[in-house]
Amino acid sequence: MTFLTRLDDGSLKQGHAPSFALSQRGRAGLEILGAIQTFSSGTLRPVAAATFATSPQGEALSADHAAEHPALSQRERIAKARTVCEDDPVYRLERFFQRYVAEENFNRGIPAIEERRAQFLAYDAAMENAAGEAGDAGAETGSLTLDEGLEIPRYYARVEWHLEPGGWDGYDLYGALFAFGVGPYVFSKGGYAAVGIGDDIVNQRVKTIAQFPKDSYARIYEPGCGGVSTLKAVHGRFPEAELTGADLSPLLLENGARMARRFGFPVHLKQADCAKASGEADASYDGVITYALHHELPPKANRALLAEMFRILKPGADIVLADPPPFRAVSMFHAVILDWDTHHREEPFFSAVLHESLEAMLAEAGFTQIESYPLGQDQYPWITRARKPDTPSHQEATR
Ligand SMILES: C[S@@+](CC[C@H](N)C(=O)[O-])C[C@H]1O[C@@H](n2cnc3c(N)ncnc32)[C@H](O)[C@@H]1O
Repeated sequence: MTFLTRLDDGSLKQGHAPSFALSQRGRAGLEILGAIQTFSSGTLRPVAAATFATSPQGEALSADHAAEHPALSQRERIAKARTVCEDDPVYRLERFFQRYVAEENFNRGIPAIEERRAQFLAYDAAMENAAGEAGDAGAETGSLTLDEGLEIPRYYARVEWHLEPGGWDGYDLYGALFAFGVGPYVFSKGGYAAVGIGDDIVNQRVKTIAQFPKDSYARIYEPGCGGVSTLKAVHGRFPEAELTGADLSPLLLENGARMARRFGFPVHLKQADCAKASGEADASYDGVITYALHHELPPKANRALLAEMFRILKPGADIVLADPPPFRAVSMFHAVILDWDTHHREEPFFSAVLHESLEAMLAEAGFTQIESYPLGQDQYPWITRARKPDTPSHQEATR
């Protein structure tokens, strides 16, 4: 999810690029995972959804879910709906495939890259040289600042996000695995987690950036930037903006810095815990963007992060958040599908965050003009955007 998945999209520097590809075995092993995922979410899931929606319990739970004053709490409703779904063998088979693919992405992806390690490293070095020559020719450069002493928050430290062995930093060639394996052959098909079948996660980022309401921004900040996938889309829309991204993961930041150099856009990448201290000055940014971040933080850390973003934004600045939709915004059946990720795809905070409202959190932090709406199928990405008021609130003035 975090790495650029189209290294050959035409924006690479011309003339120097040697090619890199997986072996036939490696490629085909991942390709079939993409096909299983497509069959699971494109063919089996609609059948399971229809079975649920037309069953008497499914109908009653869906009506309660849509009611203005539901009889059951959201948690109770989802638990009951899950039981109804699990009675259906098609639902169980669909979920089996989802879990199988999520796990096999790494069981197959890591050996597929390992088998070609030497070729990848040679390719990578050649690409670095080409990017270096472009830099010497006067292209603007960015920066990378790592903080070896950074305290990694407890909620993050031991999680193998999305079943990734060792977590974000668990394998030195995760960048290659996503860029040349899981990205093009599995993730690009959509139909996993909150991403709708056939949806393109590269294009979803471009659509998200278009939600910034102004025509230009001088300085934009992305907390939880991972690599530079989202910042690259920001650069495409606002080429004049100075860009800064921060993340906890040194591996993602290092990969991001390399990609930014190759794509030839300057970005300042910093290792920081954005829910604690970004290290940025008060009122120093015109815009903040987040993409697929909030569901990876416990609600308390989200509140702290949004307060920190409020602090670093200038009065009148904009914030745009893109994350999976809250449970209240999706069908009863889809709420069960999203909730499943918490229990089966190593997303410990997914449900906790989807029960909450990012709008309410933004209001608590002091933002105004708050609105939220979906951009694509299954209400994903779900946008929540707001503005820091021009004049400080009474609360802020007396802080
Ligand atoms: C799903 S990834 C999204 C990455 C990126 N926004 C993108 O569009 O690809 C979530 C990222 O949030 C980062 N993260 C989680 N908690 C963080 C925190 N407290 N401070 C900074 N980054 C954090 C993770 O390391 C991970 O790279």
